[in-house]
Amino acid sequence: MQEAGILGLGCYLPPKKLTNSDIEKIVDTTNEWIVTRTGIKERRIAPKEVAASDLGVEASKIAIENAGLKPEDIDLIITATITPDMAFPATACIIQDKIGAKNSAAFDINAACSGFVFGIVMAQQFVNTGTYNHILVVGTEKLTSIVDWTDRSTCILFGDGAGACVVGKSNDRRIVSSFLGADGSGGHLLSMPAGGSRLPATEDTVKAKLHFLKMEGNEVFKIAVRIMVKAADKAIKKVGLEPSDIKLFIPHQANIRILMAVAKRLGVSEEKIFMNIEKYGNMSAASTAVALAEASQQGKLKKGDNVVLVAFGGGLTYGAAVIKW
Ligand code: ACO
Repeated sequence: MQEAGILGLGCYLPPKKLTNSDIEKIVDTTNEWIVTRTGIKERRIAPKEVAASDLGVEASKIAIENAGLKPEDIDLIITATITPDMAFPATACIIQDKIGAKNSAAFDINAACSGFVFGIVMAQQFVNTGTYNHILVVGTEKLTSIVDWTDRSTCILFGDGAGACVVGKSNDRRIVSSFLGADGSGGHLLSMPAGGSRLPATEDTVKAKLHFLKMEGNEVFKIAVRIMVKAADKAIKKVGLEPSDIKLFIPHQANIRILMAVAKRLGVSEEKIFMNIEKYGNMSAASTAVALAEASQQGKLKKGDNVVLVAFGGGLTYGAAVIKW
């Protein structure tokens, strides 16, 4: 079996910032409420004409270059997103065309905020079996396109962005362990109810605002802490390590209070939890992808470090991967 590792990383954030004081002008909220309850100070917002694939293309180009490869070297593109450009074709196919990865297969996965972790673990399997050499995993979201800007309990949380990584045969930055899970019984807690085959778009679904993201925040909060701890713990123990052996946790950036609670339950200090939520909010599948790329850019990951990616999201889905840097 070949060993799979991370060959290159990249991320792209649209330049326009939407601050909490901007949101104070849209809904009945305050900067203080948002900062204390979520840790978010601002988020990025992509222009109207920019779709998830466009953000993903920028991140992908950087990741491929960072890996020392050319688009033609990519064998497979896996794109994780809940805001695809359209239902089909897959956003991965659109990215493939735009970057000129003409030798690759391409498909999308939908595991909401856990999508990038699921994508990395899938890529690892293809490399381990020798099926593919270079897999581009992209987490890209334009969540501001499915946010209800009249709902103060959700519109404060989400932002746009993309991160990408190339997975291939490698002796370092190896993916050494993983754990993926799902609990479909909690699907109703986080969803976009209409636009699929259950409720195709009609005038009524639009009027009822069923094409927007819906979330039972309180319920999700409680489950999030428990399942992130479970996923991280399982992946860490599978490879004979303990949480104290981990140099840096790179979690899905949903809420600073969730991250603090996860650190406490894992028995690790808050400094071991990578955070960029104050700048970007929750970018679903792009969150862990951007966080991993930024942690690397900031020199926080050193050779030999044990690093854990951990996420949870709509589905419900959850997953973790241990990377030996
Ligand atoms: N500004 C001011 N007040 C607000 C706001 C706001 N933006 N939003 C809600 N409130 C009010 C509520 O109306 C409520 O008022 P009431 O007590 O008078 O009824 C009060 O604040 C408390 O509301 P809660 O919903 O209990 O607030 P909570 O502390 O739970 O914070 C939040 C809400 C931030 C959404 C939190 O529940 C959370 O982070 N949940 C997890 C979300 C998450 O992790 N999602 C990730 C997955 S996303 C994906 O998969 C796509």
